[in-house]
Amino acid sequence: MDKFNRTVVDVIGNTPIVKLNRVATGVDSDIYVKLEYMNPGGSIKDRIGRYICQQAMDKGLLKKGGTIVEATSGNTGVGICLFAAVNECKAVFVMADKQSKEKIDALKGMGAQVVLCPTNVEPEDPRSYYSVAKVLSEQIPNSFYANQYHNEDNPNSHYHSTGPEIFEQTEGKFDTFIAGVGTGGTISGTSRYLKEKMPHLKTIGVDIEGSILAHYHKTGEMIEAKPYVLEGLGEDFLPSNIDFDIIDDFVVVEDQESFTMTRELLEKEGLYVGGSCGAAVCGALKYAKSLEKPEKILVILPDSGSRYLSKIYNNDWMKEHNYPTPKTDENFISSIQKLLPADGVRMM
Ligand SMILES: Cc1ncc(COP(=O)(O)O)c(C=O)c1O
Repeated sequence: MDKFNRTVVDVIGNTPIVKLNRVATGVDSDIYVKLEYMNPGGSIKDRIGRYICQQAMDKGLLKKGGTIVEATSGNTGVGICLFAAVNECKAVFVMADKQSKEKIDALKGMGAQVVLCPTNVEPEDPRSYYSVAKVLSEQIPNSFYANQYHNEDNPNSHYHSTGPEIFEQTEGKFDTFIAGVGTGGTISGTSRYLKEKMPHLKTIGVDIEGSILAHYHKTGEMIEAKPYVLEGLGEDFLPSNIDFDIIDDFVVVEDQESFTMTRELLEKEGLYVGGSCGAAVCGALKYAKSLEKPEKILVILPDSGSRYLSKIYNNDWMKEHNYPTPKTDENFISSIQKLLPADGVRMM
């Protein structure tokens, strides 16, 4: 049993890569996806939770019994909770109130304290989740602010884990790397490693309509962000962890197409993933359609569908927001209905 002498943080990573089939029939390129929901905490952010906190411990910034504070859309919080559990730390998370109930419940269930802040306020506003996290980390004794937006150990974690892992798994035999951009950690750190090994690799970021990132990359100009529903991608400010120079281009996607694709990924590929995964695949398909020659494209799928059961996977929520829901086969449904006894048995 010695080989099992490890904790949950030791088994983060080594996530599988699969090829898309039924959702990618319209393009000549091959699209491969890396399933980060297979991490123990259900997302790619397990990698940064482990690395950022371990670095902080190694540097003496975080001690056993200390408190980890973070501004998170949920997944980083779960990653930090894994580290906190193993290392006997406490955790306080500050979130924008648009985040799904599942993410809030998961963090509370893991024993963390959760603070909710209004979503649509300026980052500098004292009520914003960035400002509140900073103040709490300054005031709570023995606390460490993980600060995924501006802590270089976020991209460094991908430079040391996601990048080498992808290179080993693929032997560098692909043309383009695509990832959604939020804090910028995934795309910046992974691309830095991969481009050192594969100088011809192209890196494409996926941004969401309403965010400022793609426009800034193209023009160097700051614009005002507009509200969008998707969680995890896009920003209304510039995180210093985004290395804009390493990103060759951006593709912009919209809420509706992202959610529709998220549902299709489950229905047609069996991939139970979150909304930013639908967005990333939409971005990859748009990029593939723009190509003259087919390529091999690798896309990161950051998290699990289980975090979005009350939203993207809930037909009532989709209808309320005027997003289309998957077509139902009425003939098939009525053929089942006919087989049911009259009272007390019903189809959902
Ligand atoms: C669900 C989800 N997808 C994608 C991202 C973007 O990754 P990164 O922050 O590394 O740019 C995040 C970041 O919070 C996320 O939570």
